[in-house]
Amino acid sequence: MLIRNAWYVAAWADEVADRPLARRICNEPVVLFRDREGHAHALIDMCCHRGAPLSLGAVTERGLQCGYHGLTFDGAGACVAIPGQSHIPERARVRAFPLVERDAMLWIWPGDPARADPSLIVPYPYHNDTARWPHRHTMYPIKGAAMLMVDNLMDLTHLGYVHVGSIGGNPMTHVEARMETERTPTGLRFTRWMPNSLPPPTYVKAAGFTGRIDRCQRFEFIAPGAILQWSSADEAGAYANGQVDDSRLKFRLFHFLTPETDTSCFYFWSTANGYRLDDPSATTQLFAEIGAAFEEDRTVVEAQQARMSELGEDALVDITTDAARIHMRRTIERLAQTEPTPLAAE
Ligand code: FES
Ligand SMILES: [Fe+2]
Repeated sequence: MLIRNAWYVAAWADEVADRPLARRICNEPVVLFRDREGHAHALIDMCCHRGAPLSLGAVTERGLQCGYHGLTFDGAGACVAIPGQSHIPERARVRAFPLVERDAMLWIWPGDPARADPSLIVPYPYHNDTARWPHRHTMYPIKGAAMLMVDNLMDLTHLGYVHVGSIGGNPMTHVEARMETERTPTGLRFTRWMPNSLPPPTYVKAAGFTGRIDRCQRFEFIAPGAILQWSSADEAGAYANGQVDDSRLKFRLFHFLTPETDTSCFYFWSTANGYRLDDPSATTQLFAEIGAAFEEDRTVVEAQQARMSELGEDALVDITTDAARIHMRRTIERLAQTEPTPLAAE
């Protein structure tokens, strides 16, 4: 079941410029557009005249103009112009979704607009701090449920198998990583410590490690789709006192999984370089390396989805390292219980 009463990333802010963008969010066809004042809006992607997708239209001075017979809609979904007539019927409007532009992203609320409180949007100010956190961002469409991607990020023991050539390292280092987990009202936080481990190839390229390293990863999952990550590394022994802030290598990753349908999603992610701030090539290299690793995740998750769609999930077994993933799933189930039932919604 998809949770509707939540903020989701609908797009990177820079994806929506002078042309409308079609994107299915939680099974609903949505059109995103930016009006001539620069404000972004989200409407249902269906014209109230003859049902053409509004995303096939164009942005004009007055709003979004349908590409079929030219009805124009403002950001609130009201029809503001009909070619050849001055009277605009009361019913000539389309559904508008709450949309907020923040931290370089467009956040949409697919559920009840009355519950759309912008203070619930996950803050990520690092996207605005280009001096201390130069970053790059993109989106991967995934043919797999959003929750399978969240599972992937909540169980990092896959790093040593899926990402052996990039961000992985020795598989047992990941399985045996010391985990500190803390539950939060909206999800969980965990820190993984991997002292005295072998530096993975990406880390060697980024920071030139020659010997073994101490490695730390901090993750925060915020339901239903955000995962904020901090990763750091330094020479082995450097973390003996638990201090990681001055690490030789440190970077931030933002992950957000927005459901497209029940079995597909959009993976919005960014990488922020916190170690060679004045070197744009470091920012680009980090982005490329992490992007290649996420391609590996996409391959696994899409294949997993195909198999689960075919054979179901009943025979699956949980193991010890699933603990964080299971807690994440419970948080989602709790949230789902606050959703109106389909019957009540009708
Ligand atoms: S279908 Fe949109 S104007 Fe006719
Ligand atoms: Fe991965």
